[in-house]
Amino acid sequence: MQKLIDALATQGYFVWDDFLSQKQVNDLKSCLPETWTKARIGRNDEVARESSIRSDKIHWLAAEQGIAVQDFLERMEVIRREVNKHFYLGLFEYEAHFAKYEKGDFYQKHLDCFRGNENRRLTTVFYMNDTWEQQDGGELVVYDLEDRELMKLAPKSGRLFVFLSEQFPHEVLPTNMERFSIAGWFRTNGVKNNLLDIAQ
Ligand code: OGA
Ligand code: MN
Repeated sequence: MQKLIDALATQGYFVWDDFLSQKQVNDLKSCLPETWTKARIGRNDEVARESSIRSDKIHWLAAEQGIAVQDFLERMEVIRREVNKHFYLGLFEYEAHFAKYEKGDFYQKHLDCFRGNENRRLTTVFYMNDTWEQQDGGELVVYDLEDRELMKLAPKSGRLFVFLSEQFPHEVLPTNMERFSIAGWFRTNGVKNNLLDIAQ
């Protein structure tokens, strides 16, 4: 945990390998849903416009989906408290979805705090692909705000990537095989249209 805090302070992101064991990943995968919905960008955006930007399918995480999901959410809560102790981010709540990328699916370069999601401060992406090899593609390419490529991350099982949502544009390269991840965001709540923006 200290490594995460130090890395967030110095570079704004952290790659946490073996965040979960393969057994824990398998337990999480057994909670994968049967039904998936076409991903949207903002929660209120149209699906059609989105298809050219991202082609994955998602399902929002909820504790009722199983013990492994509950455990995952508890671990995120530990991170939330720890980060709040060290930084003035005021992280308030966590929202996350499973994502399924089928062969050919991608997500073009974007920031996670786009319109409708301005309150996202810290992003987590967790990977669940135990047989991943180079030729499988689907890497996460991470950029800085000057558009310099920082790294290409393999979506390897057990790996958690944590980064400041406003600092790092990123994209998912087309995958050559089925690819599973959990993307999540710690949000602050703010005021929008004169109303307190509580998690919807
Ligand atoms: C996202 C995202 C990355 C991934 O859902 O916003 O960038 O590797 N996901 O799944
Ligand atoms: Mn993203």
